[in-house]
Amino acid sequence: MPHVVTQSCVGDGSCVYACPVNCIQPTPDDPSFELAEMLHIDPTTCVDCGACVSACPVDAIKPHARLAPEELAFEAINAAFHREAPPRPLLAPVRPRLLVRDRGEDLRVAIVGSGPAALYAAEEVLTIPGALVSVYERQDRPYGLVHAGVAPDHRRTRRVSRQLDRIRAHPRLTMHLGVEIGRDLTHDRLLERHHAVIYAVGAASDRRLEIPGADLPGVLPATDMVAWYNGVLGADSTPVDLSHRRVVIVGNGNVALDIARILMMDPDALAGSDIAPRALEVLRASRVEEVVVAGRRGPEHAAFTLPELVGLTSTPGVSVRVVPEELAGAPAGPKVDLLRGLGSADGGMGRRITLRFGLTPQRVLGTERVTGIAFARTDAPGGEDLEAGMVVTAIGYRGDPVPALPFDAARGIVPNEDGRVVDPGTGAPLPGTYVAGWAKRGPSGFIGTNKGCSQDTVAALVDDHNAGLLRPVTSRR
Ligand SMILES: Cc1cc2nc3c(=O)[nH]c(=O)nc-3n(C[C@H](O)[C@H](O)[C@H](O)COP(=O)(O)OP(=O)(O)OC[C@H]3O[C@@H](n4cnc5c(N)ncnc54)[C@H](O)[C@@H]3O)c2cc1C
Ligand SMILES: NC(=O)c1ccc[n+]([C@@H]2O[C@H](COP(=O)([O-])OP(=O)(O)OC[C@H]3O[C@@H](n4cnc5c(N)ncnc54)[C@H](OP(=O)(O)O)[C@@H]3O)[C@@H](O)[C@H]2O)c1
Repeated sequence: MPHVVTQSCVGDGSCVYACPVNCIQPTPDDPSFELAEMLHIDPTTCVDCGACVSACPVDAIKPHARLAPEELAFEAINAAFHREAPPRPLLAPVRPRLLVRDRGEDLRVAIVGSGPAALYAAEEVLTIPGALVSVYERQDRPYGLVHAGVAPDHRRTRRVSRQLDRIRAHPRLTMHLGVEIGRDLTHDRLLERHHAVIYAVGAASDRRLEIPGADLPGVLPATDMVAWYNGVLGADSTPVDLSHRRVVIVGNGNVALDIARILMMDPDALAGSDIAPRALEVLRASRVEEVVVAGRRGPEHAAFTLPELVGLTSTPGVSVRVVPEELAGAPAGPKVDLLRGLGSADGGMGRRITLRFGLTPQRVLGTERVTGIAFARTDAPGGEDLEAGMVVTAIGYRGDPVPALPFDAARGIVPNEDGRVVDPGTGAPLPGTYVAGWAKRGPSGFIGTNKGCSQDTVAALVDDHNAGLLRPVTSRR
């Protein structure tokens, strides 16, 4: 009975290291690992030992006979990947252990942020005997987007917090909640108390949609919508008005799909999840019948991933539809094939999500508040105005500058080389200063993608420690 990886895979690779026959691909040492939409078990070599099931932090792996009806598609998705994957070695890859020179005192590392990148960095530092880690988080709740981003109905994904709890409980880790670096404590002060500081501050702002009308009331960035339904402190009063029939979401990444699903699914199915009580109340009174998710490119370039599309199409009580002409000519592939099997938007009644393609936003319509949005066709003449009572921009996140650190405003990240923060003018590294996660790479990738990213940053830090490049601690207060 082979095992199957399902939708909640966060790609941290724990299963790969647990598997005795290396049947899970891609492996973290493979260049395609970072871009993979999920991991896949080869049904022809799986020995059914279940080691991967215990290793997975989000219960994403199941024996094939125990798949729920809405998960059956993942059996074929896992198998198809392996039909095309090149042959692999029999043994799973082994990550080299950190070799740390003894410098006569325990290594002290401060980590700013407490999201996945921060805690995976902490886990790696704590493999060094005697090393001490202090984590500083500005919110009163830890784990970053695991609480504040992951959708409340994605219960299995949110279970990754149990893995983070285990890292947090390490006796050589101290967590300071409600401390913002740059406001409550300076970078210099941190460097006096630690040999090194790792910034894992994420990318908390939204990318702005630069079109006329984008500032009208009724246009909301995804960051606000997500904070609202996840009950982030202060987001209760976000003006989410659902007293009309249609919402248009600009952008078609996984965040867009999350928002569309939360707006359209049965509120009773959300009750008991981590959704904010105020948001549930507003959703119960919602009159919205259709959410249109508008991508600017063709379906073969959709930013959402296949596992999330599979999950969306099996949301009870919601029909997911397409405009067939917008799929014409798109090359076949798992996503496009699945989209082609969906119903046509013409016949849509009831609660529905319409996935549109090839629409570039031009102008938000309305005078006092939004009444719709005008699109041009991206690769053809013509355009279309869509009526809407609310427009959500889900066009990606963006980092904010951290006081005392350089900032790459074009990319919205902390400029770095392999995790070492560098002065963009000279290219010289800032002593003892490192970056990991979305603040290092930009806002893309799954929770687990940050694990290898943080391990690479810690490897750079240890190299600098071994080379004697870290300054001594001058204060222990
Ligand atoms: C809406 C949304 C849903 C997602 N859903 C999924 C999903 O279902 N599955 C999945 O695998 N991935 C998901 N992701 C991606 C995943 O959440 C990210 O890959 C991951 O959280 C990035 O980790 P990070 O540690 O770099 O940043 P974050 O998780 O953002 O953590 C950064 C932390 O730093 C803190 N911080 C910032 N500045 C300071 C400061 N100056 N001082 C102190 N603390 C500070 C912040 O408060 C925050 O806690 C989602 C992303 C989004 C946006
Ligand atoms: N369940 C999950 O696993 C989950 C859930 C949420 C998020 N995440 C991850 O978190 C990361 C961030 O997700 P995201 O959805 O915020 O970002 P994203 O995947 O980068 O998608 C951004 C979308 O915005 C579009 N866009 C950008 N600029 C635009 C503009 N000016 N006008 C119109 N459209 C524009 C992009 O189109 P183009 O492609 O044409 O640029 C794309 O469709 C992703 O890696 C995602 O997979 C995962």
